[in-house]
Amino acid sequence: MSILPFPKTSLSKEEILASMRAARDRDVQWQNGRVFGLVYHVSDEIDELLKEAFTMFFSENGLNPTAFPSLSKFENEVIAMAANLLGGDENIVGTMTSGGTESLLMAVKTARDFARVQWSVKDPEIILPSTAHPAFDKAGEYFGVRMIHVPVRADFRADVEAMRDAITNNTIMMVGSAPSYPHGVVDPIRELADIAQARGILFHTDACVGGFMLPFVRKLSYPVPDFDFNVPGVTSVSADLHKYAYAAKPASIVLYRTSELRRHQMFVSTDWPGGIYPSAGMAGSRPGGPVAAAWALLNYLGEEGYLNITSVVMRTTKILQDGINAIPGLKVLSNPEMSVFAIASNKLDVYELADELSLRGWHLDRQHFPPSLHMTVNYVHAQVADDFLKDLTEAAATVRRPGVRKAATKLLVSTANALTRVLPEKWVKSLMDKASSMMGGDGNLPERMAPMYGLMGTLPNRGDLKELVLDLLDGINTYKK
Ligand SMILES: Cc1ncc(COP(=O)(O)O)c(C=O)c1O
Repeated sequence: MSILPFPKTSLSKEEILASMRAARDRDVQWQNGRVFGLVYHVSDEIDELLKEAFTMFFSENGLNPTAFPSLSKFENEVIAMAANLLGGDENIVGTMTSGGTESLLMAVKTARDFARVQWSVKDPEIILPSTAHPAFDKAGEYFGVRMIHVPVRADFRADVEAMRDAITNNTIMMVGSAPSYPHGVVDPIRELADIAQARGILFHTDACVGGFMLPFVRKLSYPVPDFDFNVPGVTSVSADLHKYAYAAKPASIVLYRTSELRRHQMFVSTDWPGGIYPSAGMAGSRPGGPVAAAWALLNYLGEEGYLNITSVVMRTTKILQDGINAIPGLKVLSNPEMSVFAIASNKLDVYELADELSLRGWHLDRQHFPPSLHMTVNYVHAQVADDFLKDLTEAAATVRRPGVRKAATKLLVSTANALTRVLPEKWVKSLMDKASSMMGGDGNLPERMAPMYGLMGTLPNRGDLKELVLDLLDGINTYKK
């Protein structure tokens, strides 16, 4: 690591802000809908409200609710409103967390401790579809719970029979997504949760993406299968405020059917000289801003506001999906319930397509199993849907045309391991920097990534890839001159 001397003298506020503005230059342009994921944006007016609410509670600390009853009120009201939206009764309890990942970590830790106490399970297992978010695997690693992944059906939804067959005496919980991130489809939650209930185990619905959208999609008369507390076997639900509720990051909720279950999420130290120390979630000190901003926005928009937003997003999604399906060689995978989906092709290399779109200023994540490009459509995309389809049509035409470069890419890609092709571009760039410096190159990379993704695929196995990615993560999290 290079050394950065600790600043000896102060800079002016103007200098600091100017250098921060400059640092943003190469960030993706989310404000004008150029990125399909990561940022959920409605309007400047909503951002103003979020910022005002956030900064009003900028200094407050959610660690101690007795010092800040305001934050406690906001949090409890957000939870109670969400419980109502998600089919819950007055017994539902929950916690605000720092995001979908923390919500899932908490759901897994709660299930583990509940099962340990209630059923004396020592080697807990959780059964989940292969499309469930990797935060479950993270939770498994952190908390010593074995994750049993079950391949999904041809329509990318959880395979109910196969998940039933995977149950053992160690199974403490089953999981379904509403919807899954990779293909945007809702798992058959009712069928899965019925099995869980019949077997006397827990069931978690990961509605991190859909929790604040699917209820409104249904109210607008689109078909939405049951996924929430309306299903008796569902014992916990996660839903992200910083996704389709359009609240400020970081904010999510995890809800439990009973407070008896939630008790296993909580931590209490009674013997510390510093006093009795209770804590509901992972964090100690907790920022007040996201709690205040979420409360403000739910009240500002209300059902009426969310229905308007959802209706725009669903119309935009239809325009985009129809446009994509009309481009020869491209198709939307399966039939997603809301506004998250994947573009695939039997004829074109979708990684080449992603490169062509990148050159035209669009940012789409690459996926594998099967190769596809991911789209999370939100309100901001209504204004760019036509431009996107125009560029996608051009990009597909370019990829379709034969050429020497493409033939070379094809050769490379044909040797590639699919796993390595879905890394974020920046990682691939630094990885190739590394590889290239090892090969004596200057580390300068072309704008096109498809050949690079292909080259990465020559790594012999997944273990090597994991080590390389760990190296990369290490590098990205280290200061360099
Ligand atoms: C279905 C699902 N669950 C959980 C998460 C994790 O959310 P976060 O990135 O807020 O931790 C995501 C993120 O995209 C998701 O799509």
